[in-house]
Amino acid sequence: MTKEQRNNFKKTTSVWQDTVHLPEFRALDKDIETETLIVGGGITGITAAFRLASAGVKVTLIEAARLASGTTGYTTAKITAQHGLIYHELAAHFGAEKAGLYYQANQEALHWMEQTITENNVSCGFEKKPAVVYAATDQEAAAVEKEKAAYDRLGIPGDLKQETGLSLPAVNALSMPDQAQFHPLMYLHYLIAELSRMGVPVYEQTMAVELEQEKPPVIRTRQGFRIHCRNVLICSHFPFYDPRFYFSRMFPERSYLIACETDATVPDGMYLSAGDPKRSVRSLKLSGKNMVLIGGENHKTGRGEDTEIHFDRLSGFADSLLGENRRIARWSAQDYTTLDKVPYIGPISANQPHLFVAAGFRKWGMTTGTLAAGLLTDLVLEQDNPYVELFSPSRFEADPMVGRFLIENAEVAGNLIKGKIGQEEKSIADLGNDQGAIVSLNETRAGVYKQPDGKVVIVDTTCPHLGCEVNWNQSERTWDCPCHGSRFRANGEVIDGPALKPLKQIYLQNESVAGDQKTPL
Ligand code: FES
Repeated sequence: MTKEQRNNFKKTTSVWQDTVHLPEFRALDKDIETETLIVGGGITGITAAFRLASAGVKVTLIEAARLASGTTGYTTAKITAQHGLIYHELAAHFGAEKAGLYYQANQEALHWMEQTITENNVSCGFEKKPAVVYAATDQEAAAVEKEKAAYDRLGIPGDLKQETGLSLPAVNALSMPDQAQFHPLMYLHYLIAELSRMGVPVYEQTMAVELEQEKPPVIRTRQGFRIHCRNVLICSHFPFYDPRFYFSRMFPERSYLIACETDATVPDGMYLSAGDPKRSVRSLKLSGKNMVLIGGENHKTGRGEDTEIHFDRLSGFADSLLGENRRIARWSAQDYTTLDKVPYIGPISANQPHLFVAAGFRKWGMTTGTLAAGLLTDLVLEQDNPYVELFSPSRFEADPMVGRFLIENAEVAGNLIKGKIGQEEKSIADLGNDQGAIVSLNETRAGVYKQPDGKVVIVDTTCPHLGCEVNWNQSERTWDCPCHGSRFRANGEVIDGPALKPLKQIYLQNESVAGDQKTPL
């Protein structure tokens, strides 16, 4: 690896972001009115805006940062209804009919995308591939066999084999034919161009922070402007308005991806390990290079070890899979999983029929985001949709939700307490340039990042959402909250999650102060 390649590999930018520049839009700078407001410019929000505008609805799309700069820009970009081993579990929990609907909804999303791409000649590397889940142990193989039995019961096409096609030891593998992969930002580039063509107003750097009035809805943005509308679709990864305590009904996970250029024969499917450690593999042809994307290493946000270790482990896996290879990019993403693993898509609550939410895609946002856009479009247009009940955020299935709910919230309570009482061993002097850590500062716990030029930024590590203690993520230079997944830049600005306010900056008594966000120590 050359020095330049090594430095590039240290950045955490996806190959998607590196190769497509999406059009830019200005921030909202006045009060406006619209029929349907869409909050969140990822695949769900963009697709919903496209579908609603195509149906003649007056739509406005706002995004807190840049379009597709959240999880959509950091995906594996597999378009599939094979979401790991899920159908046996869904059938046991929801019954065969709903498990079948889950498959059908995802397949429909795949077909809608394929049709859109084909009919409009969208150049986005769309390729049909089988999706394959493989077992590395006898125990995993038994789970894969159960999944195949569920496929058979539900009428899902699938093929159980004793090998994977990958140069890895595997006991068995279950493939689902005719799934697909693509370049997500090339695809969204087309949809965004269509929004412009249809005259849909799009505002970036425009964060919704408050539902000021419910009937009819009035949304206030961080800059203080108001948006009056009839319907609101909250497609922002985590709902900014949370009357149903979504933060306690979803748990956040981070996962990691590396892109490796290789001369080895590239595997023909899209692979996922059945057990842990999770490994995801797919091929990619980009800029004349043969690449393989390798992902995995999931962990709860803010609760991982040194995040660099996750990339090292994926690199080791790449070496054993591909032999000689050149790592050219690495990145990570955050996803939320609901308590019963089925996303929340629909009215935010039974008595708020004009406020809709789409969240909890469990890493399968390409199909799930697309199906959510279709379902929300039908709800806004008051058209029938067969998936309303399955994805309803108001559903309550007692088992296993309650158990998971209690475990998740006990862990949260633990993090609230643990973070406050720990003694920090590090001091600012222990940090090298471009390093961060929680340190003891005048006997107070503080988050410190020493910038590449040696300047120090200090933040209060108390998460402004509900008061848990954030942890440092060295590979992304962020502060991550272990409770509900809020993430902040090194200087405390909000990136993601339920927190809507930044971490407080702290200054030392002898430091000159700029800005009123800073608190003296
Ligand atoms: Fe809820 Fe931090 S995200 S306390």
